[in-house]
Amino acid sequence: MIQIECCDNLELMSKIESGTVDLIYCDILYGTGRKFADYQDLKPIRSEIEAHYIPRIKDMHRILKDTGSIYLQMDTRINHWVRLIMDDIFGYDRFLNEISWYYNSMSNTKNRYPKKHDCILFYSKSTYYKFNHEHKSLRKEYATNTINRSKTKAGFNNDKADYLNGSTYLVQDVWTDINFLKNGVKYNTQKPKALIERIINASSNEGDLVADFYLGSGTTAEVCKDLNRNFIGCDINPRAVEITLQRLNNARS
Ligand SMILES: C[S@@+](CC[C@H](N)C(=O)[O-])C[C@H]1O[C@@H](n2cnc3c(N)ncnc32)[C@H](O)[C@@H]1O
Repeated sequence: MIQIECCDNLELMSKIESGTVDLIYCDILYGTGRKFADYQDLKPIRSEIEAHYIPRIKDMHRILKDTGSIYLQMDTRINHWVRLIMDDIFGYDRFLNEISWYYNSMSNTKNRYPKKHDCILFYSKSTYYKFNHEHKSLRKEYATNTINRSKTKAGFNNDKADYLNGSTYLVQDVWTDINFLKNGVKYNTQKPKALIERIINASSNEGDLVADFYLGSGTTAEVCKDLNRNFIGCDINPRAVEITLQRLNNARS
């Protein structure tokens, strides 16, 4: 099932039964204050950010299953305020990670370090959340120099070197291996499919229900179609919904 609506996300969430969603991923409004070609962003004013997010995050908490998790993506303009809201609603102890997605794009910044990462806040509703740590999209092979370093340590580490060779480790909380979208972008703030694929593979299984309430060009919906997840989502902007429907028609499965 893939359900896409054109409406305010508060309206869609009010129609969703409590405890029914397995995973929420939202690439939210970043608080840039900018008017993008496709939508108006919120201003970076704490009262405005709280007025928008508090009722929405309360509803996200309500509709998640007890085994569910949530990932909210933004950047450093508002991540500190959103984290406080998440702590209040989900609980400080349900915070799991702040993932940094580093993207290497050009910058002319000269008065401070160029800002080149997004923050993805990962919380669960309870301690019984799903996390598929063995899924291949979450595994990395050890670098050759890590293996060689083990080999050169006086022989007794040969066993360790052999063990490292061919085995993998879980990706850490800084993601540098997923490129920023440069070409073929259909929407202002479109995100790479690989980023959302990793999240969906980590925190849901086939047949689960995934939701994205800030849908944009429908990247999450397309990934759900590819990965056999059910999906529900919306965007307030009709152009976003139109692009999403086109992408779904052209999608693989
Ligand atoms: C950062 S963009 C999402 C981009 C998306 N991840 C993609 O890959 O294309 C945020 C989206 O949220 C939508 N939006 C803003 N306020 C909303 C609201 N109250 N309800 C539903 N959608 C909203 C905007 O129209 C915009 O398309």
